[in-house]
Amino acid sequence: MGVPERVKLVDVGPRDGLQNEPRAVALDVKIGLIDRLATAGITTIEAGAFVSSKWVPQMADTAAVLAGIDRRPGVSYPVLVPNRNGFEAALAAGVGRVGGLDEIAVFGAVSETFSRRNINCSIAESLDRFAPVAAAARDRGIRVRGYLSCVLGCPYEGAVAPDRVARVAARLAALGCDELSLGDTIGTGTPGKARAMIEAVAAEVPRERLAVHFHDTYGQALANIYAALEAGIAIVDSAVAGLGGCPYAKGATGNVATEDVLYLLDGLGIETGVAMDGLLTASRFIAQALGRPPASKAALALTTGAAS
Ligand code: HMG
Ligand code: MG
Repeated sequence: MGVPERVKLVDVGPRDGLQNEPRAVALDVKIGLIDRLATAGITTIEAGAFVSSKWVPQMADTAAVLAGIDRRPGVSYPVLVPNRNGFEAALAAGVGRVGGLDEIAVFGAVSETFSRRNINCSIAESLDRFAPVAAAARDRGIRVRGYLSCVLGCPYEGAVAPDRVARVAARLAALGCDELSLGDTIGTGTPGKARAMIEAVAAEVPRERLAVHFHDTYGQALANIYAALEAGIAIVDSAVAGLGGCPYAKGATGNVATEDVLYLLDGLGIETGVAMDGLLTASRFIAQALGRPPASKAALALTTGAAS
């Protein structure tokens, strides 16, 4: 099949990354990070989540984040919305009012236990909650992304069969999700398994609508992304500085670092529209704010001059 000529990078750092920080991250840091990612050329930046602040305190200021960022034409700033309540909060924060690039993300799982731990309901109940949210969003011209967690393994239930992922993906797609992000939430996947899972899902949902979302817990993320590219996937989630983890997936480390993914894609001659120097500026900014170096080999090599 060959790798795609162009890939859309979705930076989930400001949400998937920062949601897991144990200490409060200041509003101006969140805004500064998002604006720097946009300056680097990232066109989809996950800006926050309208979830319960009792469950995920770090995302409590998402409305203020949306109000504070410098919205750029051509850039989409999706927010997670688990239910009607979250959708109303997103609308109140201006989502849907600023034009065609608005986007929300519903998030489900292919594991029953993870679904209950993460959003306090079964998979079937979650789909029932997402259906009216997706319909209402589409009525307003808001794009809908659908996440599936645990596609290559669950922290509670272990291995997950590809046909199970394909079944839930088909149901989520049927609700009207424009794009489905396949999440290896705990990073246990390896390229052969990732490829088999993608092929199973692609039998149900066109691969142009599929994104991959790898966490780098076992150092397999870039290899898995390469396998996904070879399977024709052209949307890749990542987090600047390798931020992240999931509060409901014990032991899951960060998302694959955007800098490392960009280095891979640049090396393959795949267009992204993202500039490495701008991305390194965003990476340094958040690393400094959090007081630790970026979890990105490319960022460290390019910053210390090890690459020259
Ligand atoms: P619940 O307790 O079952 O909800 O939580 P409920 O409907 O029974 O309501 C209980 C209380 O929550 C009520 O308030 C509601 O108003 C309020 P009270 O009357 O007690 O004062 N409530 C809300 N508040 C704010 N925003 C809302 C909302 N809905 C109800 N949207 C709920 C259900 C989904 C809200 C909860 O479980 C929750 O917020 N979970 C957070 C999940 C989360 O953010 N997880 C991390 C993101 S997922 C992830 O990281 C994986 C991903 O990256 C992909 C991958 O890596 O695989 C996407
Ligand atoms: Mg994630």
